[in-house]
Amino acid sequence: MQKERSKLLIKHQKGSKIAEQFRMIRTNIEFISKKRTLKTIMVTSTRPQEGKSTIIANLADVMGRQELKVLIIDADLRLPSQHYILGVDNSVGLTDILEERVVPEAVIQNTTVFNVDIIPAGQSPHNPSELLSKRDLAVLLESVKKEYDYILVDVPPVIVADTTIIAQEMDGIIMIAEENKTPKQKFHKALTALKSTHIPILGIILNKTKQDKSSKYYYYNK
Ligand SMILES: Nc1ncnc2c1ncn2[C@@H]1O[C@H](COP(=O)(O)OP(=O)(O)O)[C@@H](O)[C@H]1O
Ligand SMILES: [Mg+2]
Repeated sequence: MQKERSKLLIKHQKGSKIAEQFRMIRTNIEFISKKRTLKTIMVTSTRPQEGKSTIIANLADVMGRQELKVLIIDADLRLPSQHYILGVDNSVGLTDILEERVVPEAVIQNTTVFNVDIIPAGQSPHNPSELLSKRDLAVLLESVKKEYDYILVDVPPVIVADTTIIAQEMDGIIMIAEENKTPKQKFHKALTALKSTHIPILGIILNKTKQDKSSKYYYYNK
């Protein structure tokens, strides 16, 4: 169990940049929640490998510790990784729900992270965009909203069509950028594409900052 936990966790030390950014996101979530429903949140970024999946798992961990019930849905059907980060089986998952082979209850798994459950991606389908466009995604989200305080959705980078399709079903979006790495123009293009969905952007997390990479920070290294 300890081994699994060490795969995901960023140390949230007081004063650390990442902890500060998580607090900012939490404050934005609380603020927006007062005005409208904010349960389904996706985390995306400009490019692969910027830390989307890592941030989701860590945000879920932080929320879980605050007595909030969280469901992670891995909707990165092309390159799923939440099952890997959280150490669960990925033989059935979101793909099977969208292909109407199973009911959601059959694929929701508990994790070793307190208050955090997961629907892993399942085996990668040949038509992810088409599957994610189906009503079934909205129906699934509606059905799990009753059981969870927050549903955090892991998705591909903005450039992949799946991401803007999923965005339509979200209450909010968190964007990740990699310090000194994410090309500014591409980032702004991605942000503009997201803004055109009119789904509120809850915040931008600057990931892999210098401080993160120092010895104070540890992360799972593949
Ligand atoms: N803050 C960070 N500092 C150092 N490495 C990180 C950080 N966030 C993520 N990583 C590492 O970067 C790689 C890509 O992260 P991942 O969350 O899979 O990105 P994405 O989901 O955007 O493709 C992983 O090996 C992960 O452990
Ligand atoms: Mg990912």
